[in-house]
Amino acid sequence: MVDFITFMYASPFFILLFFLGKSHYFTRLSTKKNLPPSPPRLPVIGNLHQIGPLLHRDLASLSQRHGGPLMLLHLGSVPTLVVSSADAAREILKTKDLVFANRPDVRMWRRLLYDNREVSVAPYGEYWRQVKSIMVLHLLSNKRVESCNEVREEEMAIVVEKIKKSREHGEAVDLSDLFLTFTNDVVCMVTFGRKYSEGERGRRFKKMLGEFFAVLGGFDLEDLLPRFAWVARLSGFDARVEKVARELDEFLEGVVEERLKKQAEGGGGGGGGGGGREDFVDILLKIQKDDSDAYTAGTDTTATVIEWAFTKLLKHPKVLKRTQDEVRTVLKGKQQISQDDINNMKYLKAVLKETLRLHPPIPTLVPRISSQDVNIMGYDVEKGTRVIINAWAIARDPKVWDEPDEFRPERFLDCSIDFKGFDFNLIPFGAGRRGCPGITFAMTTNENILANLLHKFDWELPNGGKAEDLDMNERHGLTIRKRTPLLAVATPFPS
Ligand code: HEM
Repeated sequence: MVDFITFMYASPFFILLFFLGKSHYFTRLSTKKNLPPSPPRLPVIGNLHQIGPLLHRDLASLSQRHGGPLMLLHLGSVPTLVVSSADAAREILKTKDLVFANRPDVRMWRRLLYDNREVSVAPYGEYWRQVKSIMVLHLLSNKRVESCNEVREEEMAIVVEKIKKSREHGEAVDLSDLFLTFTNDVVCMVTFGRKYSEGERGRRFKKMLGEFFAVLGGFDLEDLLPRFAWVARLSGFDARVEKVARELDEFLEGVVEERLKKQAEGGGGGGGGGGGREDFVDILLKIQKDDSDAYTAGTDTTATVIEWAFTKLLKHPKVLKRTQDEVRTVLKGKQQISQDDINNMKYLKAVLKETLRLHPPIPTLVPRISSQDVNIMGYDVEKGTRVIINAWAIARDPKVWDEPDEFRPERFLDCSIDFKGFDFNLIPFGAGRRGCPGITFAMTTNENILANLLHKFDWELPNGGKAEDLDMNERHGLTIRKRTPLLAVATPFPS
């Protein structure tokens, strides 16, 4: 999006369009339909000029000024319904879930996500149903998540050693990189049976992952304004998409080839992960299906939660102390943390919930599309309208949340609101039939790393840094991570 917006603003084409358009703003077509309210728009580009890279923030302020719970935008030639209240989200994700169970057919997704064969963007229908149930059953069921404990513990031990080494060298820990590597390694071990984060190959792999999410978080101009596809080509956006799609292809082909070779050599199944563990590639190879969804949907999102949780804790030392006291009281000096222990850490769970409220990793969820004309809260929504649910705005709605911008985990201690898709005030994982199947996987991983790091280390900002100086800015992309890496100094506990 940035590429396109920068290009448009800088180009004589845009300036001409702006002056042409300013003289006669599009007015609402006088139809009998009762369309949701819209801000004024320009010819051709519609409302594109009103949104920037941090879409959730721009949509929230546009909705406040022009729309309210439902607002109709025109992103280029694409009518887009923006949903900003829990009631409206419930209508779409629950009451009329079937009408909105499809995803739009976005050209860039086709290129990056295997011709839309990935579960997350697959058209609603038999194929999607089958692949999603395979995923839920073989990778994301509670039983399967539990059986991944061994992988998580092994990876956690590596993380602890890395932190101790940084301490010995008197260096601060780059927690952002550490969290991404950790979730990446856990997901790779579970899906591919081996890790890809070490050495030069690891560096390239992480770079590819970063670029993949950055590109996926952008708008595809050809999709929104087919007549101006050439702008996407000129701005270099197309070339970026092609490059990262090619790299991902090569990477996944490598994974499958490596596994087939091992099997041919007599290694059989049991994954490259060793220990006779069957991983997701083994399962997919058995059923002849190629899928990278777990990897692409599961790594960055999970790492983003823990990155923001830790940032918030360092920003709020009292909350950090309370969470740490709870963890240490529950564990009473025990080194290994069990799921039962975690279940007793009510405040730690509240910290993660509050983090998901303030920093949902995908703040505008994954778009849906209306498969027929439908009425939502008295407004007509036409077939083919795209739907963006602003989960970020909903979770900061002052009508529901006291001091919505404040980080106060206590609010969740005596409150039954959960993030599993049943309470529409808090929907970081979406809801309904297209809701996220990875909640347990993601949250078990996050609870585990947070409890471990607070149990085994004391934390402070480097060079006597003050909490108020901590950079809280967001970086644009599909997942909204912290703009600058989070650095912190660890002291082993007990020292
Ligand atoms: C904190 C971590 C995560 C967050 C915040 C997150 C968020 C989301 C969201 C917002 C959606 C769209 C839901 C909707 O349209 O209603 C989604 C879908 C999906 N997520 Fe996650 N996710 C996370 C972790 C994971 C993990 C770990 C996996 C798998 C290993 C995963 C796999 C998927 C898949 C396959 C879909 C597509 C579902 C469908 O279209 O039917 N996610 N996720």
